[in-house]
Amino acid sequence: MLSRKASCDAHGQDSSYFLGWQAYEDNPYHEVHNRSGIIQMGLAENQLSFDLLESWFASNPDAMGMKRNGESVFRELALFQDYHGLPAFKKELVNLMSKIRGNKAKFDPNKLVLTAGSTSANETLMFCLADPGEAFLVPTPYYPGFDRDLKWRPDVEIVPIRCSSPNGFRITMPALEEAYERAQRLDLKVKGVLVTNPSNPLGTTLTREELNHLISFVNEKGVHIISDEIYSGTVFDSPRFISIIEAVMDRNLEDTHDIWSRIHVVYSLSKDLGLPGFRVGMIYSKNETVVATATKMSSFGLISSQTQFLLANMLADKKFTGKYLKENRRRLKKRKEMLVSGLKSAGIRCLNSNASLFCWVDMRHLLVSNTFEAEKDLWKKIIFEVGLNISPGASCHCTEPGWFRVCFANMSEETLQVSMRRIKAFVESITSGCSQQQQRRGSIIGKWVSKLSSSDPEPHR
Ligand SMILES: Cc1ncc(COP(=O)(O)O)c(C=O)c1O
Repeated sequence: MLSRKASCDAHGQDSSYFLGWQAYEDNPYHEVHNRSGIIQMGLAENQLSFDLLESWFASNPDAMGMKRNGESVFRELALFQDYHGLPAFKKELVNLMSKIRGNKAKFDPNKLVLTAGSTSANETLMFCLADPGEAFLVPTPYYPGFDRDLKWRPDVEIVPIRCSSPNGFRITMPALEEAYERAQRLDLKVKGVLVTNPSNPLGTTLTREELNHLISFVNEKGVHIISDEIYSGTVFDSPRFISIIEAVMDRNLEDTHDIWSRIHVVYSLSKDLGLPGFRVGMIYSKNETVVATATKMSSFGLISSQTQFLLANMLADKKFTGKYLKENRRRLKKRKEMLVSGLKSAGIRCLNSNASLFCWVDMRHLLVSNTFEAEKDLWKKIIFEVGLNISPGASCHCTEPGWFRVCFANMSEETLQVSMRRIKAFVESITSGCSQQQQRRGSIIGKWVSKLSSSDPEPHR
């Protein structure tokens, strides 16, 4: 009755990543109303700097009220439907991109395509760069949403570039070559490499060495590179962020036109400004055909003119933007340190990170065996017994069991502290064998949550 697309399950909503969300939605933690609920630590949202945005909106009523110099622009915005976007907005977006990159790269608004978030940007690029059945190489572990964005509608295959813990999951030339050869053995034509820089889920920026490997590789194979830089404004520690654009500029390659036509950057305001609901994303490319095609395709997911107008005004306030970026990074760093030290006191370590809204957490020592089955068992315990929804490494296609992505910027400081107390008590119980005793008594789900929440102190009001 329905199309193949409608009947296939390639959307990925059944992956463990989304099942954890379901468990959370059925029993969400609340500091006052549901202190035994599940704490959402699987959602890469940035709620740390909303007060700064809100105070800008409050002191700029004209932008919120669709006014310019006191005059209403409602009619102008209500009728606007140009898929090239508002010029003033694009100008401010490229300024923001340059600022985040320390003004080491200049961006031209004519090479920018607006999309409804990075989700749409990545999918649009797939439609522009690959035909159904062709492949993109993606380093593991990777953002689970790529399975949906690349595969579901564009029908592009993902071939993992297998990265692992001994070198901190860094991308190496042998790993790139191995993935390329594997694709060939599978009879898949490789059209490019997709990286996230800073990485989701690692929370690390790509090193100069990794960027050089990637550039040499795509140059030699004649394929594209997409750099999803959605977390570029969250880099709170050294080493500093190096965009693919800067890395290519610094390489002084011979045939620069050829390489530039195969470099595409994806960005969005969902993470750096914490505005995923506004659906502001973009593609930046020097390939004129890609820009022209993606612009036409953007008709399927435009950003409302009201949103463009509001944010163009906000970003044009350079004093505010500079202050926001700096303060947001400071708050993220503080939060990350809270998470790292909380986990450390529970005997759990994290991969060293310098960016993003999450940490990549090593719980291999808590597995009963070195298998993904054991990882799944631990993950379920952490959701239902400890009351934390975190993302298992398997959902990010990690090749080693026992790693989890834990988010820290979508909750209050108090809630983060509750989560740290819960995980510490859980680890202590495993070490003392208390958890097994409880299981023998047949009381699994809920026991931990109610025991721990009764010892939670009163929340700050
Ligand atoms: C690497 C990466 N790309 C894209 C997205 C999607 O973001 P958007 O809200 O802009 O569609 C996310 C969201 O988590 C992400 O982590």
